[in-house]
Amino acid sequence: MSSVVEKIESLRNALHEHNHRYYVLDQPTISDYRFDQMLRELQQLEKDYPEFNDLNSPTQRVGGGVTKSFETIAHRFPMYSLSNTYSREELELWEERLQKILGTEAVITYSCELKFDGLAVSLLYENGIFVRGATRGNGSIGENITLNLKTIKSIPLTLTGNPPSLLEVRGEVFIPKSQFLTLNQKREHAGLQTYANTRNTAAGSLRQLDSKITAERPLDIFIYGVGSTNSPDFNNSHWENLEKLKLFGFKVNPYNELAKTPESAISFYEKWLSKKELIDYDCDGIVFKINQIDFQEILGTVGREPRWAIAYKFPAEQAVTKLLDIQTNIGRTGSINPYAILEPVEVGGVIVRQATLHNEEYIISKDLRIGDWVTVERAGEVIPQIVHRNESRRNGSEIIFKMPSLCPSCSSITSRLENEAALYCTNAQCPAQLERLLEHFVSKVAMDIDGLGIKTTTSLIDNGLIGDVSDIFFLDKNNLENIERMGEKSINNLINSIEKSKSQPFSRVITGLGISHVGSEVAEILVNEFKNIDSLMNVTAEELQQIPSIGPKIAISLVDFFQKETNRLIIEKLKTSGIKTELENQNGKSNNNLLNQQKFVVTGKMENFSRTEIQNLIKENGGLVTNQVSNSTNFLIAGSDAGSKLNTAIENNVTILSESEFLKMISS
Ligand code: IVH
Repeated sequence: MSSVVEKIESLRNALHEHNHRYYVLDQPTISDYRFDQMLRELQQLEKDYPEFNDLNSPTQRVGGGVTKSFETIAHRFPMYSLSNTYSREELELWEERLQKILGTEAVITYSCELKFDGLAVSLLYENGIFVRGATRGNGSIGENITLNLKTIKSIPLTLTGNPPSLLEVRGEVFIPKSQFLTLNQKREHAGLQTYANTRNTAAGSLRQLDSKITAERPLDIFIYGVGSTNSPDFNNSHWENLEKLKLFGFKVNPYNELAKTPESAISFYEKWLSKKELIDYDCDGIVFKINQIDFQEILGTVGREPRWAIAYKFPAEQAVTKLLDIQTNIGRTGSINPYAILEPVEVGGVIVRQATLHNEEYIISKDLRIGDWVTVERAGEVIPQIVHRNESRRNGSEIIFKMPSLCPSCSSITSRLENEAALYCTNAQCPAQLERLLEHFVSKVAMDIDGLGIKTTTSLIDNGLIGDVSDIFFLDKNNLENIERMGEKSINNLINSIEKSKSQPFSRVITGLGISHVGSEVAEILVNEFKNIDSLMNVTAEELQQIPSIGPKIAISLVDFFQKETNRLIIEKLKTSGIKTELENQNGKSNNNLLNQQKFVVTGKMENFSRTEIQNLIKENGGLVTNQVSNSTNFLIAGSDAGSKLNTAIENNVTILSESEFLKMISS
């Protein structure tokens, strides 16, 4: 038996090493064939002797572990983001400022690194074994994607050398450009839709519930720093830390350079600006990090961004193309929104076919005409924009665009409201408008109803089952059975979800109505002020403007909305539908004592709710809200950009919850 154990151990060690040589060092010493033979031998032995299973065996790379959903993980130390600049002047100011803080004597060196355009992850090693990997999430809380990360061959499952007993490193997962092309070619051959860009594909791949699928994607990683460790050996310089990480088996980018002066740091940027197309991964700028850890500590962090690091981004990608047409779509409030149809053009690796045009004024101010040659720009995640038209390429055949006088969906007359740039469809029953409104009404910020996707909604409207938002609550099994694509299971799920939504607080109902300028924060203020729908419906614009933070725009929009007979009828129907049309706990008492007077602090930017909404939910559920974190705080609910409160909470061992964890807590 011991010879079996020895054989398994020696195969595992050899495979770990060859894997490292191949995927990290790019210096294989055996053929792929030999590697596969050894892997197969190990797989067989592990099958025959399951008692010797090891979760970090090289055989685990093929994936296969299926997760139901990703559990959330609070990072041991926040995962920071980078402040960034596109300008040389700002960069120089950054350097000058730091030099001033550190004193003129301080000799700063800069770690110059490529800024990879992928996804930040954290990898935790205990006693040299990879135990947990997580996404960045909101910087405080990420998702546990360990099984998926194990399939990435350049992530070591066991470390070499002499690693500390606890080491958490951070890096960027990405898909190499060449592999991305091959992947898309294969998909095209198979008649599948091709992926848009490397970053989104890498993100989607890491969030697969079945790690076998992740294993099939050509993911790779560069490690760019130490997150936390219990060893005192990482306190000297960032550069030395990276060197140590290489010795433990991590893949660190070979193009990093240590610059001794700001000028040489800028030369590094200039060099890669002209060479970035030559490297096999997307990279959108250069990261400069102050190398000395003691300097980093003096400089500290502002919010989520360390003062000691900055991203000097490459200029936004631009391309020239033809403006083929201008079309319009209808927003949920009936606004007619123009957008550009472009001759497809590649901008920074993504094919752009459309660009937003906002409203008529925007088109006029840029003097855009159909047939113009235009420069389009895509910066990061931002929707493509038209920067300007190219005057010299006009030949006189260009056509001036006129906003439609009739709604493109229902042919009703369009009109412009006073003081508004947008044009509106005047028909409250416009089907396109209703589709957008329903989309909003069922969304997470409003009634949170699952199972009403666009296609189902359109079918329900076309079949006359929904004429306004209130009709959702009068749907029943019998009439849903006649809807295409709706089987028994989806009907049951939808009915259950609708029922569940009836317990959403009154403020969500107001948000869901889609009144112009009334988002969830304003809705919250309104329900606290007016308590029930009848009082709100009958308020005047003057009364509304007495409320701090309600200006004339919101006031006029609300009064207009409730004056319309069609809207008043919808409200009457909503009142009989079983949803909440008044504020509960009017005297400030808790609805329930689920949270048992425990103390909560809310910080950072939430995804679906405002902070006030979360605080109200705490109170409604019997919790106490305080402003400062102390050792008597029970929970900190942390959104993105959570500042010092998060650090205090970590120091005081306060349980940190994400928004979704908190929502789960109160829904249980
Ligand atoms: S260091 C000190 N180094 O950029 C701040 N980040 O906007 C921690 N990124 O979330 C990040 N390349 O995903 C660092 N060489 C690099 C990077 C890098 C890409 C990403 C990372 C981070 C984002 C910050």
